[in-house]
Amino acid sequence: MTDLIQIGLGPWGLDWAANILPQLPDADVVGWVDASPEARAAFTGGEVYAGVEEALAATGAVAAIAPVAIGAHAAVARQVLEAGAHLLLEKPFTLDTATARELAGLAERKGLVFAIDQNYRLFPGVPVVRDLLERRAVGTIRRVSLEWHRHHSGVRDSNALVELAIHHFDLMRHLFGREGVAITCVPVTPVRTAQDRTPGASLIVELDGGLTIDYVLSSQGVGPQTPWPGVWRISGDEGLLQWGAAPDDHRSVSITDADGNVSAVEVPELPLFERAGVLRAFLDAVEGSGEPTSPAADNARSVAMLEAALDSARTGERAKVRRW
Ligand SMILES: NC(=O)c1ccc[n+]([C@@H]2O[C@H](COP(=O)([O-])OP(=O)(O)OC[C@H]3O[C@@H](n4cnc5c(N)ncnc54)[C@H](O)[C@@H]3O)[C@@H](O)[C@H]2O)c1
Repeated sequence: MTDLIQIGLGPWGLDWAANILPQLPDADVVGWVDASPEARAAFTGGEVYAGVEEALAATGAVAAIAPVAIGAHAAVARQVLEAGAHLLLEKPFTLDTATARELAGLAERKGLVFAIDQNYRLFPGVPVVRDLLERRAVGTIRRVSLEWHRHHSGVRDSNALVELAIHHFDLMRHLFGREGVAITCVPVTPVRTAQDRTPGASLIVELDGGLTIDYVLSSQGVGPQTPWPGVWRISGDEGLLQWGAAPDDHRSVSITDADGNVSAVEVPELPLFERAGVLRAFLDAVEGSGEPTSPAADNARSVAMLEAALDSARTGERAKVRRW
């Protein structure tokens, strides 16, 4: 049994409390935190505290999960880690690489597990596509396109790069095992700061080894929706690998060979689906076995891609992804 506190009782935090935590009986939430008096008053699931330190001291919890407002990510992470607790923080970790690296370093110095919830890594198609790529099932990859198109007010009314593209940048790194090199980003509406809203963007993402991904992100419009991880078209010199199909089918994986023959690839269920699997890996890491799904130190490289996309959106120029 691992004693946890949950920080953040907004729409996504309430969803974690109702639908994800109950799937893992060894995750024992012993206290909740929210800075908003209204959110604290509305929550009836247990003791709610106004501050992180107070909650950790009162409950003796060894770890925290934080589906907290994006603007509070860095401050909350610092509070949890300084207090000596392990942390699973929602995406996007931060909006800048310097802060991400500093916080990952703090966790490392204190010997704490610090993970980011990149739950798209635990869609069942992901290990299948990764395995096909590792086995060079369509030969050398020449070109990739990714389309994400949903009518989603939560994304439309915020900054789609910050809310959504971070998932796809992280998936690009995870699927291809390559790091970002440069990003050119044309947002649908002007983005001068990460707080500016935009419902989508067109991006050219350059990865190591000369691989380019044409990426379209859109939360506007009508018509069939892509699944949350998107529709991927991965062209190699020996065939085409496709993952995801509209409407909303994240389990469709197929290979088209050089003669045009299409074969469907089986996609087995994962033992635990997306967030529940991320939480399982985090709890296991806290108990000393295995690695989290996306350790913060590695996730800083996904943040570097988001930072480059925001830079490019602001300047209109191709932006290099920070490397170290
Ligand atoms: N992984 C996913 O697929 C996914 C999907 C949706 C949202 N999210 C993430 O979940 C998080 C929460 O989303 P949301 O829509 O509920 O956010 P939100 O903006 O509604 O904020 C959540 C709560 O955080 C509280 N809060 C703000 N500052 C705080 C602080 N310093 N200490 C304690 N509480 C504080 C707010 O009062 C609010 O109740 C965000 O990071 C978002 O990116 C992830």
